Amino acid sequence: MTNGRVEVAALVGSLRRQSYNRGLLRTAMLLQPEGMRIYEVPIDRLPFYDEDVERQGDPPPVRELKTALARADALLILTPEYNYSISGVLKNALDWASRPSGRSVVRGMPAAIMGAAAGRSGTMRAQLHLRQILLYLGAVALPEPEVYVTFAADKFNTLGELTDQTSLDQARQLLRNLHAWTLMLHASRG
Ligand SMILES: Cc1cc2nc3c(=O)[nH]c(=O)nc-3n(C[C@H](O)[C@H](O)[C@H](O)COP(=O)(O)O)c2cc1C
Repeated sequence: MTNGRVEVAALVGSLRRQSYNRGLLRTAMLLQPEGMRIYEVPIDRLPFYDEDVERQGDPPPVRELKTALARADALLILTPEYNYSISGVLKNALDWASRPSGRSVVRGMPAAIMGAAAGRSGTMRAQLHLRQILLYLGAVALPEPEVYVTFAADKFNTLGELTDQTSLDQARQLLRNLHAWTLMLHASRG
């Protein structure tokens, strides 16, 4: 924690330029409470996870990922839903972050999840899978509020900004909870 400020590493599970989930990240950066700084950790240059590659030493994009995550106090994951689960690129990033086995770089870290999808589920199924994955990584997923941006085409303007008031309120509350919870965990660990 820098000067009492909660540093939050954000992973966006979509590489699409006009991604709604990247729009969600921009929104989160606007809504972040005082005493919190959210920064994106890019995942687009990561190679596919391969244990043979790992044995020769983490490639530079993997080292950068792990360093950026390790210096964070909390995680924010903006996830799309692909075929009822998270995207391959996000899973790949989490697989690298989970290594070496049992020494996940996000162990013990509070994690908040938001997601936007084209359909009516608003990433609900992807988020449930993500919670299961985070369990193995030892990150502690915030229970509420759940932020499911459904029918995303109707909830973002042409600049890619989230305009739906209910989603905005939920996102703001989630970030407040993440802030409070991270401070609490930090205090309890002395
Ligand atoms: C491979 C693939 C699978 C998808 N599967 C789902 C799905 O299971 N549920 C859903 O609501 N939308 C699904 N979609 C549509 C996404 O919700 C939509 O593409 C959304 O814009 C992705 O997020 P993004 O805007 O951040 O890239 C899928 C899209 C792709 C490309």
